[in-house]
Amino acid sequence: MAFFQKKPAPVQVDFNRLPRHIAIIMDGNGRWAKKRGLPRTAGHAAGAETFRTIATYCKDIGLEYLTVYAFSTENWKRPEEEVGAIMGLLKRYLLEAIGQMERDRVKMEFFGDLSPLTGELRQLCRRTQEISKRYEGCQVNICLNYGGRDELLRAAMAYARDCQEGRADPNHLSESQFGGYLFSRGVPDPDLVIRPSGELRLSNFLLWQSAYAEFYFTDVLWPDFSKEELHRAIAAYQGRSRRFGGV
Ligand code: FPP
Repeated sequence: MAFFQKKPAPVQVDFNRLPRHIAIIMDGNGRWAKKRGLPRTAGHAAGAETFRTIATYCKDIGLEYLTVYAFSTENWKRPEEEVGAIMGLLKRYLLEAIGQMERDRVKMEFFGDLSPLTGELRQLCRRTQEISKRYEGCQVNICLNYGGRDELLRAAMAYARDCQEGRADPNHLSESQFGGYLFSRGVPDPDLVIRPSGELRLSNFLLWQSAYAEFYFTDVLWPDFSKEELHRAIAAYQGRSRRFGGV
């Protein structure tokens, strides 16, 4: 019988060959809390900490874009207390981010329809976006009241309006033109989509943009997600052969 568990060898990441854009479905907060006999809201608080650690690390290693799924169009179905707690964590994070912007130099954007959020939160999102515009470090996109299908419907309606009003041609629409109607306009598609917590689905996340993304799934719950786990995801990505439909 072995008395010592051998530590797994550290994964090798080639930092000169990072994906440009990593997108993360921050899943497993509720289960993390349940395992510890804590309320689900404690899981979200722990998840917000993990987000801080991972976003800072992504900036430090020179990642260009990080997109996280913070609140979906379907998450409103959750108990009011839980929704309130997530919004509270976002508010705290944005206030902090504004205070540290000059130091962090992270550009922040929001994907989603912010109109159902409180005026205060909307205002904070706007300010964060506005102030951080001038920074050229990592761009962090927070998906808030975001749904991939909702995004596609909005894009289709905006395009239809542009056609009706003569700004667009209904007979010609390229993928890149259509991309210009999405919340993610101007942002390259994610190269790597990470979903922790053992769930193997996309859950309405970046449906259009993930067409050629590489996926990395892990059983680790989001609050336990670490830099090492991120290294594993990047190493897995670096081992893939991306052919984009070619040979
Ligand atoms: C999914 O886990 C997680 C969410 C719906 C909320 C994610 C929010 C945060 C990490 C905190 C706020 C974010 C920022 C950017 C400061 P789940 O609750 O569905 O987990 P479960 O599947 O284990 O129940």
